[in-house]
Amino acid sequence: MLRALIALMLTLSFISTAHAQDAATPDRSATGGAQTLDDILARQRGEDVDNSFRSQATGDPNSAAGMADQLGTLGGASDPELWRALRFGTADVTASNNGPAATVLVQDGGMKWLQFRQGPLATYGAYLLIGTLVLLAVFYLIRGRIKIDGEKTGRTLLRFKMIERFGHWLLAGSFLLLGLTGLISLFGRKVLIPAFGHEAFAFLAVGSKWVHNNVSWAFMLGLVMIFIMWVIHNLPDRTDINWLLKGGGIFSKGHPPAKKFNAGQKLIFWSVIVLGTSISVSGLALLFPFEINMFAATFAKLNAFGISGALGLGELRETLAPHEEMQYAQLWHAIVSFVLMAIIFAHIYIGTVGMEGAADAMTSGEVEEQWAREHHSIWADEVTAHDETQRANATPAQ
Ligand code: HEM
Repeated sequence: MLRALIALMLTLSFISTAHAQDAATPDRSATGGAQTLDDILARQRGEDVDNSFRSQATGDPNSAAGMADQLGTLGGASDPELWRALRFGTADVTASNNGPAATVLVQDGGMKWLQFRQGPLATYGAYLLIGTLVLLAVFYLIRGRIKIDGEKTGRTLLRFKMIERFGHWLLAGSFLLLGLTGLISLFGRKVLIPAFGHEAFAFLAVGSKWVHNNVSWAFMLGLVMIFIMWVIHNLPDRTDINWLLKGGGIFSKGHPPAKKFNAGQKLIFWSVIVLGTSISVSGLALLFPFEINMFAATFAKLNAFGISGALGLGELRETLAPHEEMQYAQLWHAIVSFVLMAIIFAHIYIGTVGMEGAADAMTSGEVEEQWAREHHSIWADEVTAHDETQRANATPAQ
């Protein structure tokens, strides 16, 4: 009786496991374990197909027949099994050259990267830039040019010294070149080849790459220069809260008081510093392939602090192939660059057409005193008080 009961329980447990397996794993017996038409169709529908049945089917060298036996020279893995092992990065490859990526002959994740780069990255990046331009045009139509309200004095105040203007234009000039050449690389295949043909684009692409790689150093130097020169003026303080609460006085009468930089400019400054640094580091990772690997380490930290879970990204992979590190670096570099380009569009707008008198600050370095009183009243008071003290000291006592 007891034996019959155990037999019944064992049978039931086998049936239930078989059912569980059936539910989880599709039946691939008709193809001998290889992928089925259902797998292919599911992939074509864009569904996630668990590839482990392929990534693990890479043969068993230990089961190889001896060399002297029949078929012995074929080894323990068939050609498809070897290709699968190469594709999923488990093949035992020996390469004559060194380097972290030398033994990766096929990189499966590369397709996902390529599709993301050509698809969502390019599409949403273009939407962001065009959307920002449209918003700025709408803003201009509603608000118009921000004019100097009061009577001009005819006197000027020195706003930026030569070295400050040099740092700014080094950063700005290099950023514009980098942005342009970066966009040429990203949109070349989709937009420029159909428009100008392969030959013209090949010339442009080689030139763009050269400019992009070399001008990056000027950008990094400019970034360090403006950080050193301006960080002291960009530390947040109480005047910023008032400035932000009043929306910078953009739509209201009167101008909230501000020091050398107002809260809006401080936001631009810190965006440039933080995003510019991130672009620089990911750019260096691309410039020196496989030398700077930051994504596996970052993912591990995001997992450890529960940030990836909170963002709904689940557990991020903490072991990445060398090429994957590069692919993430490329995507991050481009995404952050798009965001900074959109911010810089707004900055260029306000520095040129958007505000009367602003461009002087970065061209001659001298601004109309009335402009300074309206937009940077605390700074203007400081500078005029300082100038008066200097004049008083320079005038000999009567
Ligand atoms: C044609 C392009 C550009 C023009 C016309 C321009 C113009 C100006 C002007 C007029 C100022 C001084 C504003 C003031 O006196 O208060 C300024 C400041 C500044 N610029 Fe530019 N700029 C350009 C591009 C860039 C780029 C590409 C970057 C960085 C990637 C940049 C970063 C900054 C920063 C951080 C400041 C200080 C904060 C601020 O005033 O917003 N600029 N720019």
